[in-house]
Amino acid sequence: MSAQRVLVAYGSKHGATAGIAEEIGRSLRDDGFEVVVAPAQDVDDVRGYDGVVLGGSLYAGRWNNRARRIGAELAATH
Ligand SMILES: Cc1cc2nc3c(=O)[nH]c(=O)nc-3n(C[C@H](O)[C@H](O)[C@H](O)COP(=O)(O)O)c2cc1C
Repeated sequence: MSAQRVLVAYGSKHGATAGIAEEIGRSLRDDGFEVVVAPAQDVDDVRGYDGVVLGGSLYAGRWNNRARRIGAELAATH
């Protein structure tokens, strides 16, 4: 059976969330998943993945715009 594909997408302004996303990706790979870690602005389509991990930093109570865009797409397509 082929490995399940997981997208770890992140919205990061200064890199902290990106580092956490890379770490989550590493951990999932160690568990046998096929993982793509990508900045949210580089993600055009979330179909084709068996699972998505989405993270974004908070500034003044607002979630990162790029992460919100993918979140809205996920809500619309799943
Ligand atoms: C101006 C400013 C506003 C922030 N506002 C919030 C906030 O409202 N809630 C929160 O939990 N963290 C807040 N933080 C903390 C950031 O979300 C945190 O440092 C995060 O790790 C930054 O991630 P990034 O480097 O991926 O952008 C704020 C940080 C700064 C500098």
